[in-house]
Amino acid sequence: MIRHDVVVLGAGLAGMRAAIEAKRAGVDVAVISKLHPTRSHSGAAEGGINAALGNATEDSPESHAFDTVKGSDYLGDQDAIEIMCREAPDDIYELEHMGAIFTRSADGKLAQRPFGAAGAPRTIYSADITGHVLIHVLYEQLIKYDIKVYEEFFATKLVIDEGQCAGLIAWDTQKGGLHAIEANHVILATGGVGRMYYGTTNAYACTGDGMSLAWNAGVPLKDMEFMQFHPTTLKSNGVLITEGCRGEGGYLRNKDGERFMKHDAPNAMELASRDVVSRAEWREIADGRGVDGCVLLDLTHLGWKKIKSRLPGSRELAMDYAGVDPIEQPIPVRPGAHYHMGGVDCDVWGETIVPGLWAAGEVACVSVHGANRLGGNSLMETIVFGRRAGQAAAERVHAQGDTGARIEPAALADEDRRIAGILNNSEGERPGVIREELAKTMYDKAGVYRTGDVLTECQDKVHELRERARNLRIDDHGSVFNTDLTTALELHSLLECADCLVTSAIPRTESRGAHSRLDYTVRDDDHWLKHTLNWNDGGQVRLDYRPVTITKHQPLARSY
Ligand code: FUM
Repeated sequence: MIRHDVVVLGAGLAGMRAAIEAKRAGVDVAVISKLHPTRSHSGAAEGGINAALGNATEDSPESHAFDTVKGSDYLGDQDAIEIMCREAPDDIYELEHMGAIFTRSADGKLAQRPFGAAGAPRTIYSADITGHVLIHVLYEQLIKYDIKVYEEFFATKLVIDEGQCAGLIAWDTQKGGLHAIEANHVILATGGVGRMYYGTTNAYACTGDGMSLAWNAGVPLKDMEFMQFHPTTLKSNGVLITEGCRGEGGYLRNKDGERFMKHDAPNAMELASRDVVSRAEWREIADGRGVDGCVLLDLTHLGWKKIKSRLPGSRELAMDYAGVDPIEQPIPVRPGAHYHMGGVDCDVWGETIVPGLWAAGEVACVSVHGANRLGGNSLMETIVFGRRAGQAAAERVHAQGDTGARIEPAALADEDRRIAGILNNSEGERPGVIREELAKTMYDKAGVYRTGDVLTECQDKVHELRERARNLRIDDHGSVFNTDLTTALELHSLLECADCLVTSAIPRTESRGAHSRLDYTVRDDDHWLKHTLNWNDGGQVRLDYRPVTITKHQPLARSY
């Protein structure tokens, strides 16, 4: 039996940051990841990471916090937001000391670019490959600290022993076979669930595994109805074209060349918050002012020098996948599912209601993003809350020692039978078929705009798909690199998360942040200034609610 003090599940930025902190605190920590760490989706982050350094213009953590609260449409918990914004600057300096090469301005300071709904240029960046740079820097630290990584291990079950976290069971994708991995502390850092949507910026691996594991272990998921649509994604494949393009001065135009954001956000224009910009784009396209299902992101006035130095990755993506060179032509873009504000309910140290089970990063809902996340805040969330979860779990190890929670051999045997049942099933439907139907259903029926009737259709379809997914046909019955098996396991996570999303969205009869209803167009603070909790009730979703934490900022009308 494998055993560690702390096991971190997921090797993106939150997971690696958590593991480094736990190791520094002197505990035995291991990372388990279904991918090689540098292939984690954090590496796809482009535009930057927010901290109020005040290098470009005056700024403060308080302003950062206010912008985040307002951006969240007042659903973010203000105590958690204050922590993130206050601790962010030191985390940036630490990343730099670890070796992160951030772009600098002419005066030698870390450069900061404007991002959507930010009152000051606050986003620190490495050209437009910030996630790629940070993931390699943290991976170097993982190696430096000699942290054990179980690469390409897929966690199938969390084990809870008498109410305490005992560890997890994982499938070794490389060699095949299930392993019980005991740990009194498991930090979930498995990322988001964008792949439940067609047209997403998310990697194929973003299938909500950690949310599903937690939900099935009795932990509620929070605010699952809030899926963010990023305004600038490529039509062909959903690839992200960074908000940094607009931060550097890019325009959004309709087919008539009009900068249509003047109707929606006369002050911020293209740099309004993402929910506002995505809705404006959707309207332009629906009203016939789009271009082949897209609007146009125009960078041509920025000039080749700026595009080549600040946005080289975006240029390459536009040339490779849209066939346009943004130095000369606008890029066709449209809203695509990008970031899930909901996730595993946890406190400001990442702790869930199950002692020893923690969560950090996109899998978690602390909540610092509420109903709409600001660009650049998710990378910072991974670092601040990954570090805090690693620290808190290590402190608990020192304070408590062995809690006695164990994975009994029977639990491994049960899981072995369950996985063998999936692996050996030669009849039924192919997982990929159901996955595709789910993604199209979510995009069409639970997208940028929603209505009660269409959400109910969506829920019916998700329930039908969950039923059909009970009988999946696996064509590869082998145990080595069986991606057919992985797809089947991921499908169950996607379906459970989709059920939570749509079941939470139906009763929320208001429009708030990314949850925008055509049948209830205004925010209703009297009834809906509250978090949604999704509990697993015998496999069905049961809803519950919790008040939002408000410290300084009473809800105000939101305009940009
Ligand atoms: O547009 C972007 O570069 C994305 C940033 C983010 O989601 O934080």
